[in-house]
Amino acid sequence: MDTLCLPVTVDSLKMAAELLQQGQVVAFPTETVYGLGAHALDGAAVQKIFDAKERPADNPLIVHVAEPAQLTGICRVNEMARKLMDAYWPGPLTMLLPKEDNVPDITTAGLPSVGVRCPRHPDALALLRACNLPIAAPSANRSGRPSPTSAAHVYEDMQGRIPLILDGGSSDVGVESTVLDLTGEIPCVLRPGAITPEMIAAIAGDCTVAGSVMRPLREGEHAPSPGMKHRHYAPKAKMTVFVGEDEKVIAEIISRYDANENACILAHTQLMGAFGGRRVISLGATPEETAHLLFQRLREMDEAGCQLILAQGWEEKGVALAVMNRMARAAAFDIVRV
Ligand code: TXA
Ligand code: MG
Repeated sequence: MDTLCLPVTVDSLKMAAELLQQGQVVAFPTETVYGLGAHALDGAAVQKIFDAKERPADNPLIVHVAEPAQLTGICRVNEMARKLMDAYWPGPLTMLLPKEDNVPDITTAGLPSVGVRCPRHPDALALLRACNLPIAAPSANRSGRPSPTSAAHVYEDMQGRIPLILDGGSSDVGVESTVLDLTGEIPCVLRPGAITPEMIAAIAGDCTVAGSVMRPLREGEHAPSPGMKHRHYAPKAKMTVFVGEDEKVIAEIISRYDANENACILAHTQLMGAFGGRRVISLGATPEETAHLLFQRLREMDEAGCQLILAQGWEEKGVALAVMNRMARAAAFDIVRV
């Protein structure tokens, strides 16, 4: 199959909407990462997403809508969800709610809940409106690769597997949406994102964070979200993340740097000059900038044949919790606190 990659225009949106209506798969930009979309209520269309990604069948998909009214027949919206939608939709917040019968089992991997999200990227909203369908969309990477934050990343992973990629530029946020479980008494963050636990508590009164957000699942521990048990965001290199006072982080990184391993340091922009001639690449000056850059950097490290990545992390507060959750997984939880 030839894969077209087109800038977003009236014509390309029309083509994408028609493909979706015909049960095909289309990649499109969102403010978090690029998504691989198909008609969420058409099981055969959703199967094509799993095939293109080589995604395990037990990992459920998020259903994207243009507005809350489109959720009728998809999930049961409770009072808490309504308030959170008013506050943060459109935006990078996915809510898990009890699903209705219209949603095929393949979309939710047989779970009784469904993840729903209204993205705020104008091109994503335009596409959702043009096709007038709820769209199931995981991140548009092949399973196990970093999520794509540009159309070029999608092309790398999906060339020959899907008919169309809409190019809407680089994703603003850069890490995937917050996944919030609203099926219990207290909202619980299963995957941190740009909508932070603090922001959720400000509306919902309370918010917890799943223990497995910053540590590996324990032997036999139930994964609250199936995505947590799959290997994720893994570069080919061995990666270690360092957190703590700048001076100590710099010293620790320098002591472990080994040019023979084609090593690369990923450092905060302000500290780039502190590593005396060693290979260092910027991870941005703030947690927000790191969120925006991280997946692109991981892809670049693989392309450069890097075998050792020494990366500077952030203290896990606000959006930095989302950044550290992704960095921890990329590093197989090899985090050094100095
Ligand atoms: O930002 C995003 O959320 C992007 C864009 C395209 O919207 N999508 C995305 O989808 O990241 P995906 O499939 O790559 O990640 C969805 C995560 C997975 O870890 C999955 O296990 C979890 O959400 N998830 C989805 N539905 C769930 C459910 N009903 N119960 C528990 N976890 C669920
Ligand atoms: Mg994904």
